[in-house]
Amino acid sequence: MCGRGAASLPGGPGPRRPRLPGVLRLLLRLLLLLAPPGAGARAAGPPHLVFVLADDLGWHDVGFHGSRIRTPHLDALAAAGVLLDNYYTQPLCTPSRSQLLTGRYQIHTGLQHQIIWPCQPSCVPLDEKLLPQLLKEAGYTTHMVGKWHLGMYRKECLPTRRGFDTYFGYLLGSEDYYSHERCTLIDALNVTRCALDFRDGEEVATGYKNMYSTNIFTERATALISNHPPEKPLFLYLALQSVHEPLQVPEEYLKPYDFIHDKNRRYYAGMVSLMDEAVGNVTAALKSHGLWNNTVFVFSTDNGGQTLAGGNNWPLRGRKWSLWEGGVRGVGFVASPLLKRKGVKSRELVHISDWLPTLVGLAGGSTKGTKPLDGFDVWRTISEGSPSPRMELLHNIDPNFVDISPYWSEC
Ligand SMILES: *[C@@H]1O[C@H](CO)[C@@H](O)[C@H](O)[C@H]1NC(C)=O
Ligand SMILES: *[C@@H]1O[C@H](CO)[C@@H](O)[C@H](O)[C@H]1NC(C)=O
Ligand SMILES: *[C@@H]1O[C@H](CO)[C@@H](O)[C@H](O)[C@H]1NC(C)=O
Repeated sequence: MCGRGAASLPGGPGPRRPRLPGVLRLLLRLLLLLAPPGAGARAAGPPHLVFVLADDLGWHDVGFHGSRIRTPHLDALAAAGVLLDNYYTQPLCTPSRSQLLTGRYQIHTGLQHQIIWPCQPSCVPLDEKLLPQLLKEAGYTTHMVGKWHLGMYRKECLPTRRGFDTYFGYLLGSEDYYSHERCTLIDALNVTRCALDFRDGEEVATGYKNMYSTNIFTERATALISNHPPEKPLFLYLALQSVHEPLQVPEEYLKPYDFIHDKNRRYYAGMVSLMDEAVGNVTAALKSHGLWNNTVFVFSTDNGGQTLAGGNNWPLRGRKWSLWEGGVRGVGFVASPLLKRKGVKSRELVHISDWLPTLVGLAGGSTKGTKPLDGFDVWRTISEGSPSPRMELLHNIDPNFVDISPYWSEC
């Protein structure tokens, strides 16, 4: 509802403070200036950073954007936090995820053409310093659960070699939610081959067949949280498979959606609600293990919804893969007891490349070791409502663009 004007100002309505003599007031102000920045909030040490990335979640797919899909946990978090109303991602998985972890536009990393395909020998360049590396340097324990999609053709590309202490998930862009297999047509042989894409660390993880990925990932995330010593700063990057196609969800989640006649949309709705429950479980774990009161929780989609696979971006035009608003304007919010203002909608421009400098800033870390960043530290914009340092954003420059959108389902 309200933009930056809504931030509550000290000295607003309330009992008037007794007036101090001018000299004393000046002294007090000087003392406040001398205090280390964020001294109050930092009393408990750097905040835990929990980043939940949804896959292909569309603008009109959450309750807080007016959807009839039920997302009570997300709605409550967004309502008590800062809803990002002018938030942009890239229109595709790999580009968005690469910008999240490098803080740099993909024109600088060679990832501007497309996603990384299963057989493609490509990954985020190894001389890029990634967010988890920077947070490790700042003293964080770093865990990743879920979808990587930033390349895996050699071991050096794997999450555990790029700054994550632990990793559990799948390395490609999509797969079956239950078998965790990815099938690919090998053009040269004209045959389709399927393979298990599920890893615990760097080992192939068998033994999860017929278990829905979002449940497994949620269980891993909550286990990591419950085993984490609250005094040590935690970075948890939970990149859920939900709600990317294939459209699969346990029966029980479809029941509330009998009224949706379109089968794709009905399944999709069930998937969103299951994801909402997953987020509820993760935040409940943070609360019950004493981490929440010093946690910054970010929720974001990686790109707009895929309307050919159940997603809906109304009233925005376009879909995933497109540069229309429906492809790039993302669902996102921040929830945290550390926010200076809560229950507001921010109209300030924020881009997915902004998270790296923002989170490293919150961690008290340094981005000196990175290549030049395109992202901005937007913490004060989010937390206090100050104007965004970002005046514009670049989506792409790619003279070699090849439109392969007919094959969208492969992403
Ligand atoms: C590939 O295989 C399918 C059936 O398996 C066949 O119909 C098709 O003609 C083959 N294509 C080529 C290019 O050989
Ligand atoms: C959330 O936790 C409950 C209780 O442990 C469990 O039954 C449910 O499957 C979990 N939901 C997800 C999405 O993992
Ligand atoms: C957070 O909660 C824990 C346990 O409830 C408490 O010990 C700790 O002092 C709290 N920290 C802050 C910063 O409020």
